[in-house]
Amino acid sequence: PAPGWAVAADVVVVGSGVAGLTAALRCEAAGLTTVVVTKARLDDGSTRWAQGGIAAALGEGDTPQQHLDDTLVAGVGLCDEEAVRTLVTEGPDAVRRLIETGAHFDESTEGGLALTREGGHHRRRIAHAGGDATGAEISRALVEAVRARGLRTVENALVLDLLTDAEGRTAGVTLHVMGEGQHDGVGAVHAPAVVLATGGMGQVFSATTNPSVSTGDGVALALRAGAEVSDLEFVQFHPTVLFLGPDAEGQQPLVSEAVRGEGAHLVDADGVRFMLGQHELAELAPRDIVAKAITRRMQEQGAEHMYLDARHFGAGMWERRFPTILAACRAHGIDPVTEPVPVAPAAHYASGGVRTDPHGRTTVPGLYACGEVACTGVHGANRLASNSLLEGLVYAERIAADVAAGHAAGALHARVPAPLPHPDHPEHPLLPPETRLTIQRIMTDGAGVLRSADSLTRAADRLHALHTEAREALHDNGKTAEPGVDTWEATNLLCVARVLVAAATLREETRGCHWREDHAERDDTAWRRHVVVRLNPDRS
Ligand code: SIN
Repeated sequence: PAPGWAVAADVVVVGSGVAGLTAALRCEAAGLTTVVVTKARLDDGSTRWAQGGIAAALGEGDTPQQHLDDTLVAGVGLCDEEAVRTLVTEGPDAVRRLIETGAHFDESTEGGLALTREGGHHRRRIAHAGGDATGAEISRALVEAVRARGLRTVENALVLDLLTDAEGRTAGVTLHVMGEGQHDGVGAVHAPAVVLATGGMGQVFSATTNPSVSTGDGVALALRAGAEVSDLEFVQFHPTVLFLGPDAEGQQPLVSEAVRGEGAHLVDADGVRFMLGQHELAELAPRDIVAKAITRRMQEQGAEHMYLDARHFGAGMWERRFPTILAACRAHGIDPVTEPVPVAPAAHYASGGVRTDPHGRTTVPGLYACGEVACTGVHGANRLASNSLLEGLVYAERIAADVAAGHAAGALHARVPAPLPHPDHPEHPLLPPETRLTIQRIMTDGAGVLRSADSLTRAADRLHALHTEAREALHDNGKTAEPGVDTWEATNLLCVARVLVAAATLREETRGCHWREDHAERDDTAWRRHVVVRLNPDRS
């Protein structure tokens, strides 16, 4: 769209979770003029909802090497080992810097950090805050720091597209802003460096732990800009999401892995602990293994959910250690102190995303990505629990260092953006808002926790039909829907859903969180590699 207004900066950070705000704070500290733009309010993204905590080798006897080993096992052969080494070696200091920034973590009775366990971790290495409100505390601390430093922020600003110059280098972003006075409407931030930190795409499925803003905007933008995207088929389904009925849609309450880390048991409809004997870590096996075991047992028993039993914690421990989860369960009429909690898997985390190098650079010069929107290579086929907040921190700091170095070397100077075509691009026509629900149902039916060639073909055909319908409407009427956050979100969801289904169709094996009924085994000969997608950036 033709920008109606424009502001200029050295760097624009898109998104305001742990990754975005850390990148912004570090860029500002390095002397760069930094603007943060975010789709809703500063604390509306996924970070605020993180419960379990942040993993780092901070405990006595723990080492980055042990953290690396657990991460590689969880990633089932597809992690980039060097990216993981960076994560686990830089992680402990990055957490200490987060504490210096103002985040308060729970302490043990001895006075050090209280550390818990989650799936796939052989040690207690997960720092937490407020019991089970870790993300809320991190978000609070970072938002306060951003405000205290006087960083320029634009809220209610949905990023639309990347601006590039005639040579294809980053020149900024276009935005749709609502309710922010002088910046209302479509406009632009001109900057030679853009950091995508837009979070995940859980809203592509009907039931997800992600908030409603997680609509894959960053991945869709990157695809339209011609950047490479990798590993989109690896959608992590969290094993224990509070079951609110078979037709529950939208954001669902999470029941953190840390509840199992502190000793809760998974039991089936007959009260049997079915994870025993399935994996040496039983309920604390890596997340993909537990999600599969729950799904299988649900199928065998014709049940809609399993149970998480932590009655033995007692009221005191529930109130002290898991106040958020306790309140969410009670709000839905379930009392975990006296009854087992009904749980089922739901979409939780995109292990893949916009492909980056060790400095967070994407394949488009000047465009960076960090946090859930990125694919740095640390998660492979299945992210290890509580590595995501850490990845957001570590790679945001690396990006800030790289942007600052580029700026100091004179490599990042203002670019003159090439004109953008009409917003209703024939390949990405705006979709009516109600399409979101249709996409979610198609994806849940065909590309959910258990997939097959048949289910994926069904999903691909139905998504293709939605796309064709929109293109025809555009052709016939010159317009499909009114530009607005909901129509752009629906458009982004369709874009990422189609690529996700294509990647999942291509990967004819079962690995990590990609589970194929028709290719039930892992195939290391053909598939120890990545599905990398790049759309034709020619928008003409
Ligand atoms: C949880 O608390 O179970 C979520 C942790 C994560 O997704 O890493």
